[in-house]
Amino acid sequence: MRHDHLISAKQLSRDDIETVLDRAAAIADDPPTREAVLGLLFFEPSTRTKMSFDASMKRLGGSTVDMGSVETSSVKKGETLADTVRVVEGYADALVLRHPSEGAAKMASEFVDVPLINAGDGAGQHPTQTLLDLYTIRENAGLDDLTVGIMGDLKYGRTVHSLADALTNFAARQHFISPESLRLPRSVRYDLHEAGAQVREHEDLEAILPDLDVLYVTRIQRERFPDENEYREVAGQYRIDGDTLAAAPDDLVVMHPLPRVDEIAPGVDATDRAKYFEQAHNGVPVRMALLDLLLENAGDGGESA
Ligand code: NCD
Repeated sequence: MRHDHLISAKQLSRDDIETVLDRAAAIADDPPTREAVLGLLFFEPSTRTKMSFDASMKRLGGSTVDMGSVETSSVKKGETLADTVRVVEGYADALVLRHPSEGAAKMASEFVDVPLINAGDGAGQHPTQTLLDLYTIRENAGLDDLTVGIMGDLKYGRTVHSLADALTNFAARQHFISPESLRLPRSVRYDLHEAGAQVREHEDLEAILPDLDVLYVTRIQRERFPDENEYREVAGQYRIDGDTLAAAPDDLVVMHPLPRVDEIAPGVDATDRAKYFEQAHNGVPVRMALLDLLLENAGDGGESA
């Protein structure tokens, strides 16, 4: 894999994805060493992404420096993102950035020489989530001849945009299920079309459910709605529970990037279909593999096994 920065899933070829996933799969048996420092810059809330990047860098033998919350950093004093990343670049060998503005990671990457990883830019992209999603799909359903349903907030969900882009590498059949108001943005649909993706859109899960290998459920991104009333109109509409899944194939894989609010009833958790906690745990080997590869390219922090 030869990328300086990871900003969008569109950058990833099938080969790139397989390189990361293969390395992730081998990590438990053959852990590489990277004594590098990773800078964590999270301008939006995060549990999984931030903690798993932190754990990953430490498990590689490196360490992390963390900007902390916006409230306690110099952002509060009016520092620009460009200045913040230029400063923190001097403290770290690679940077992970989450920011509420779409395009922020791309912009920030233009100011730094160390690898910068987009950990979510507004409603834009979240490519490392996609890598762990693909890892989970590969483990549970395989990546060939795949029919995937992606349901919920397709408009603001950045995990959706990245996953859909990446799945074009595998010629997956992609079904998008959402209310009309939360359909995929036109630009995302256009790019999928240009990439030759097989895309269909639905307002109901029912008709398509029996055909699915994977159902990827997402949270309605309340924080991105300009108007709270618009959120209330769609909240709670696309919830799945044991009854919903009665019509699903026995080997359906249910995924969710988490955090969930009420999209998946807790009763589903104990079933064999529920893979969302496993999915979250896969964040560590996958991010270890990615850091190892990016730092290897950058010529930093020790040797790979
Ligand atoms: C997602 C995100 O931040 O986009 N969370 C995550 O990283 N697992 C999904 C979400 O917040 O709904």
